[in-house]
Amino acid sequence: MSKSLFITGGSGYIGSKIVEFAIADGYTVTALSRSEASDAKLRDLGASPVRGDLTTLDVLTREAAKADIVISIADSIAGDYGMSQEERGRINSAGMSALSEGLKGTNKLFINTGGSLLVAADPDGKETDESSPLWPDKQFDTGGERLAMSFQEKGIRVCSVRLAPYVYGRGGSGVLLFLSGAAKAGACTYVDEGAVRVTTVHVDDAARLYLLVAQKGRSGEAYNAVFENNVTQRQLSEAYAKVLDLPTRSIPYDAAESAMGKFIARFLSLENRASGAKARKELGWEPKAEKGILEEITTGSYVKVAENLRKSAA
Ligand SMILES: NC(=O)c1ccc[n+]([C@@H]2O[C@H](COP(=O)([O-])OP(=O)(O)OC[C@H]3O[C@@H](n4cnc5c(N)ncnc54)[C@H](OP(=O)(O)O)[C@@H]3O)[C@@H](O)[C@H]2O)c1
Repeated sequence: MSKSLFITGGSGYIGSKIVEFAIADGYTVTALSRSEASDAKLRDLGASPVRGDLTTLDVLTREAAKADIVISIADSIAGDYGMSQEERGRINSAGMSALSEGLKGTNKLFINTGGSLLVAADPDGKETDESSPLWPDKQFDTGGERLAMSFQEKGIRVCSVRLAPYVYGRGGSGVLLFLSGAAKAGACTYVDEGAVRVTTVHVDDAARLYLLVAQKGRSGEAYNAVFENNVTQRQLSEAYAKVLDLPTRSIPYDAAESAMGKFIARFLSLENRASGAKARKELGWEPKAEKGILEEITTGSYVKVAENLRKSAA
């Protein structure tokens, strides 16, 4: 009999790829959905939508209880980057706890979504891994991964996928947001020297990692979903500038925080050189991206996106 999977955030950029690949792998997928548009998207992918959100705790517990595996990827901050980290953490944690109530005592698998940005940059600029220390002042850490790992005490197996901050490809995600912002502002901004390096992963490769974790992940372990870790913020701005035919502009951190808010300013300022070696070695993950992020922006799926943005700005 096919395994059943319940996913939150399955209508989103990354979640919809997980749903697509899970169905291709033979899973029966049920997905949380907040709207008719998401219902339609999920049905088109072959999943069954269930109406609810991160605050409908009874729905989360009920659906988790019916599933063999739960993937938690919805994030209350998606689409509302002005939300405080406290509020974000409160909503996400309540939703995750409700999911865990449906799984407790079953030894079934809960897959959490974390981020490689949880880990502090190495002081010497070297790569970090899943065992490296976290930022002492928390930065983007709302405690979600620690909460998820604590579910093991309730008789649940738990793994965490730590996504690279730049999940890219198929013309979507953060790159789309930054291209749109640059088109509006008439310049492609980076903070200070733009020298901090970031990690990236193609959306299809990230989705495939979730499915490998579902098959072979070891409880208690986190796995970085990382392809590249040497691209600088300045190189990204230069790629946006090239494809949008706009200038680049450096701004100091304080000005970035006033103009873009704390979340985005920090996102553009933190070095993150996480390694994806553990997932490759332990799970046999093989990223298949044909282009790195810079090439994808200048010659791949973002070319059309930039062309449309240029047309609407003209
Ligand atoms: N994209 C990236 O580059 C990236 C990088 C690192 C980490 N992440 C993390 O990966 C996750 C998904 O990212 P994404 O790019 O796929 O985001 P996305 O395209 O914005 O999708 C977010 C998903 O979460 C759902 N959602 C948002 N708020 C919700 C709420 N309050 N209750 C229930 N569902 C809610 C959305 O539902 P609707 O369809 O109804 O809006 C959607 O399915 C997030 O945790 C994000 O922080 C993303």
